[in-house]
Amino acid sequence: MKLDDWICYCYHVPLRKLLLFARREKPLRASQMSQCLGAGTGCGWCIPILKKIHAESTAEATFEEGQSVPGLPETAEEYAQARRRYLASGDEKNQF
Ligand code: FES
Repeated sequence: MKLDDWICYCYHVPLRKLLLFARREKPLRASQMSQCLGAGTGCGWCIPILKKIHAESTAEATFEEGQSVPGLPETAEEYAQARRRYLASGDEKNQF
């Protein structure tokens, strides 16, 4: 996924915003990632990804353009398809 791809579809929050928020604000808990434009407070689909971003940010990882967060699909389309499956099934296990 690219830095400008949305992670939270409900609030249109891109990966770049979340990474910068995590780096700048250094939230103590993953749940505080929601303070970044409300990410994760809609359908809940992106919460596991927000947790991964938070975990990676606390590991002092640096992200560059074209690099993906471990555990995320390679493309925004794969991510969007996984969300559609999640919304259709309502099953948290139906991620990627
Ligand atoms: S996609 Fe993030 S809360 Fe729905």
